[in-house]
Amino acid sequence: MSSNTMYVPTMSLFFLLCLSSFIPKTHAFAKAITKEEMGIKQQQNLTHLHFYFHDYVKGDNLTAIRIAQAPNTDKTPSGFGALVMIDDPLTEGPQSDSKIIGYAQGMYGFADLKQPGLLMTMNFVFVEGEYNGSTISVLGRNQVMNKVRELGVVGGSGVFRFASGYAQAKTVTMLDDSGASVVEYDVYVQH
Ligand SMILES: *[C@@H]1O[C@H](CO)[C@@H](O)[C@H](O)[C@H]1NC(C)=O
Ligand SMILES: *[C@@H]1O[C@H](CO)[C@@H](O)[C@H](O)[C@H]1NC(C)=O
Ligand SMILES: *[C@@H]1O[C@H](CO)[C@@H](O)[C@H](O)[C@H]1NC(C)=O
Repeated sequence: MSSNTMYVPTMSLFFLLCLSSFIPKTHAFAKAITKEEMGIKQQQNLTHLHFYFHDYVKGDNLTAIRIAQAPNTDKTPSGFGALVMIDDPLTEGPQSDSKIIGYAQGMYGFADLKQPGLLMTMNFVFVEGEYNGSTISVLGRNQVMNKVRELGVVGGSGVFRFASGYAQAKTVTMLDDSGASVVEYDVYVQH
């Protein structure tokens, strides 16, 4: 009887000790910091970027290449299921020999079963002046037959850290002689 009463508290103490060694210690993986500590200015910059996107889908120097498609892609009215990888030049003016200010690197997929509607996921990688090396990340829907399409700016790097905003795309030429579609972009970004 007496050995039994001793046994119960000893064992529960033992289990308690075992249990406590399994309770994870709090690891400080996140903490609040101030904008001052990060050297972040209180006032955000608002920048309007304007350039032309050249999507070379035909010809000798392709910059947009179909990398995958669904078994029935060619039977759909919209090219559904095709996936295109791009590294398209971005230029100041609409001409193909206009000065290159960056590249659109990423992918677009035909994501709409009924009409040509793209899911675009790409980075605008700038190579000029104070923007050289900085990027803007875009994720959005591009219904290519519409006059103006709007895509979200979801982030950025370098000059464009903390970027948010939107991009508007307008087709200038659809598949010209050089094998390119040229699209005018107006990008409004807070950063
Ligand atoms: C951000 O705004 C400040 C103040 O107007 C300006 O000096 C700076 O050049 C801007 N930076 C960019 C990357 O536009
Ligand atoms: C393709 O690139 C090569 C090498 O840069 C160049 O010589 C050629 O003119 C380009 N072709 C077209 C159609 O632009
Ligand atoms: C952009 O940055 C790269 C890498 O730092 C450098 O090689 C290149 O000369 C720069 N271009 C311009 C136009 O400043």
